[in-house]
Amino acid sequence: MSEATSPRVSAQTLKQQAAAAAIELIEPLLAEGVVIGVGTGSTADCFIDQLAVLKNRFRGTVASSERSAQRLQAAGIAVLDLNDVTSMPVYVDGADEIDANLCMIKGGGGALTREKIVASVAQRFVCIADDSKLVQRLGAFPLPLEVIPMARQSVARRLQAYGGKPVLREGFVTDNGNCILDVSGLNIVSPAELESACNNIPGVVCCGLFALAPARIALLAGENGIQRLG
Ligand code: 5RP
Repeated sequence: MSEATSPRVSAQTLKQQAAAAAIELIEPLLAEGVVIGVGTGSTADCFIDQLAVLKNRFRGTVASSERSAQRLQAAGIAVLDLNDVTSMPVYVDGADEIDANLCMIKGGGGALTREKIVASVAQRFVCIADDSKLVQRLGAFPLPLEVIPMARQSVARRLQAYGGKPVLREGFVTDNGNCILDVSGLNIVSPAELESACNNIPGVVCCGLFALAPARIALLAGENGIQRLG
């Protein structure tokens, strides 16, 4: 890579910086009895690693995937069942794309359903990412949908009617035992409308659009520091 095109800060460093900004944001919220919602992915992993330092200052976490639960437990952070938790001040997670309205595409790691469930219980969603995830219009990243296996063909046909090109994520089974269709070619003019439409297709467990309930705050790390949206 030539010097002109080589980034000054690595992608991993940017993820760690976004995670550090989230830690700074949530630290005043930590107290005995407080539960934090934790997302899934490489940026969420950075958040987990930094949260470990504060592990004795709050009750525990709810994880959005088996993968994150294992990382949290390995770091000595308590992982609670969502059924035992009534409220969380915050849910912290990454995104595959985010727009200026804080609508997101998520599910690149296949954890979208549990992510949406845990986020729905939290008072606010804090999205952490490097600033390459900020887009003018969602949809260059193929939209993941978690689908009941027996419905993958019928769901795929419905998505084709919306102009999408669904591709089965080969060899992948979600934590809930379902499959993922990754849908490219969608012209996402109205993310919330498309999310509602996908939610209404029988067999769709969860749509990777987070537009009906977008993030409240985005902390986007770039070469010039953290950009906060929301
Ligand atoms: C997992 C997700 C992740 O948040 C998304 O894929 C971003 O991951 P990363 O932080 O590794 O870029 O939605 O289902």
